[in-house]
Amino acid sequence: MRTVAILANKGGTGKTSLSIGLASAAAHRGLSVLLVDLDPQGNATSILRSQVGTTSVADVLASPTKAMIESAIAPCDWDAYIGELDVLPSHPNVIRFDAWNGSGAVGKLKRALAYVKGYDVVFIDCPPSLGALTREALAAADRAVIVTTPTYFGAQGVQRAVEEITEIASGTNPDLTLAGVVINKVRSVSEEHDFRVKEMIALVGAKSVLKPPMPERIAFQQAEGTGTPVQLLGTTGSREVTVILDTYLTSILQ
Ligand SMILES: Nc1ncnc2c1ncn2[C@@H]1O[C@H](COP(=O)(O)OP(=O)(O)OP(=O)(O)O)[C@@H](O)[C@H]1O
Ligand SMILES: [Mg+2]
Repeated sequence: MRTVAILANKGGTGKTSLSIGLASAAAHRGLSVLLVDLDPQGNATSILRSQVGTTSVADVLASPTKAMIESAIAPCDWDAYIGELDVLPSHPNVIRFDAWNGSGAVGKLKRALAYVKGYDVVFIDCPPSLGALTREALAAADRAVIVTTPTYFGAQGVQRAVEEITEIASGTNPDLTLAGVVINKVRSVSEEHDFRVKEMIALVGAKSVLKPPMPERIAFQQAEGTGTPVQLLGTTGSREVTVILDTYLTSILQ
């Protein structure tokens, strides 16, 4: 089971869009997929319209038992069939677990996920910070994907996220590796974006940037607004995005 944390210490870079896009790409391929929504905002949970029960990832972090995680996982409730896609839903209460606990000692999500069998890949959608929740995700994952935008502040954020991954990989979770940086929302006719993409490649190395950069496409907003997998929208933009997501997925699952 491959476990992929999708993170950024900046808001709005596209973590949730990428998490859902990659999860539905994997499900569309016939893989069995679990998406863990670790963000108190619960955006992935509401987009996937999962039939949320009374238990959530907050309960799982409070009590990482087999019974708890099994009762919290719910099927995705999209009308359009995309394959086997389940959700470990979030809840506003999960914010309690983002408090600095004075150490790198995390691992409850990892413990709980060890009880879960039958998934080929797990994606973890992180909150927009490098706090305790994101560290939970990095402790549970064997791959990390950083999502950024082609901006000056984006480059700074990527540097910090890489440092965090390196620290966790050299400490609590030696299985963790950086699967790549996604440069998202890139405008093809912007000299500034072109410059920032090159800057990012110089910063983290060409091998660490997933190619090609993800263009800015309204398909992502249409997908989330209509509760439809981007792969099934049937527009020119969605077809372009689908191919890129599939390329990323192949690279991440290697
Ligand atoms: N490539 C893209 N092109 C156009 N819009 C995009 C793209 N990627 C994401 N978006 C849009 O940008 C907005 C923010 O995306 P998203 O919610 O995925 O970011 P996030 O990093 O998860 O945010 P947060 O930090 O709040 O969790 C959404 O409306 C989404 O549809
Ligand atoms: Mg999000």
